[in-house]
Amino acid sequence: MSAHKIIIAIDGYSSCGKSTLAQQMAKKLGYSYIDSGAMYRAITLYFIRNNIDLKNHDEILVALGNIHLTFEVDEMTGTSEMHLNDENVERQIREMLVADKVSDVAAIKEVRSFAVAQQKRMGKKKGIVMDGRDIGTTVFPDAELKIFLTADPAVRVQRRYEELFKTDPHISLEEVRHNLEIRDYIDTSRAESPLRKADDAIVLDNTNLTREEQLDIALEWVADRATNKSLIPDPSPKGKGGIA
Ligand code: CDP
Repeated sequence: MSAHKIIIAIDGYSSCGKSTLAQQMAKKLGYSYIDSGAMYRAITLYFIRNNIDLKNHDEILVALGNIHLTFEVDEMTGTSEMHLNDENVERQIREMLVADKVSDVAAIKEVRSFAVAQQKRMGKKKGIVMDGRDIGTTVFPDAELKIFLTADPAVRVQRRYEELFKTDPHISLEEVRHNLEIRDYIDTSRAESPLRKADDAIVLDNTNLTREEQLDIALEWVADRATNKSLIPDPSPKGKGGIA
């Protein structure tokens, strides 16, 4: 693979496998991986713990001033884990309590400015794969490769259900479906950098792809971008796969 390091932006709906693809690509390319959603989840956890009123903008600004977010690599697993004020919160931020509130928190202007400023700094040296909702549109509008990942809604619900069931056997498929529907709705309809496919993003529908197949496709695009060959943009303007 080329030594010319690029920025890779992966966006898409809830639970369509963005972080799986982003981690696979980062590992293969020797790039760093940033899960921007983990940052919004950690901010949400802080807001829940401190009873922050989401309508009180002064209170929100003070709270953000007290939040320090870092990603630390777990020596045992090699995965990057979210730390909130030096506490490893990787497990807590994946719980339903946070999932139920995160899209409301992520829709707040001050929260987005806070997170996006840090994300932009992380991309200064390139050689980064970042996944989220606004990476190709707002965080890195000049990213050399933008992927808009989609998957069939029922498949997304099933995948997230199986993931959450491992730590919470009481979770129901219906609860997961409801959470993904609401988050997709809030994320696509908010005023501040809503989730949408960047005009120059390529759609990758992984409904019927294995992890290896989706990685191979994405790596071909990286090789293509790194050698500056142009890609044929996907004809569908918005991508597909949203839960209606
Ligand atoms: O559950 P999933 O992995 O699909 O989502 P996530 O990447 O962990 O993101 C959780 C939530 O954070 C999303 O539903 C969005 O509300 C918000 N988010 C965002 O607004 N912008 C981003 N760049 C990333 C996440």
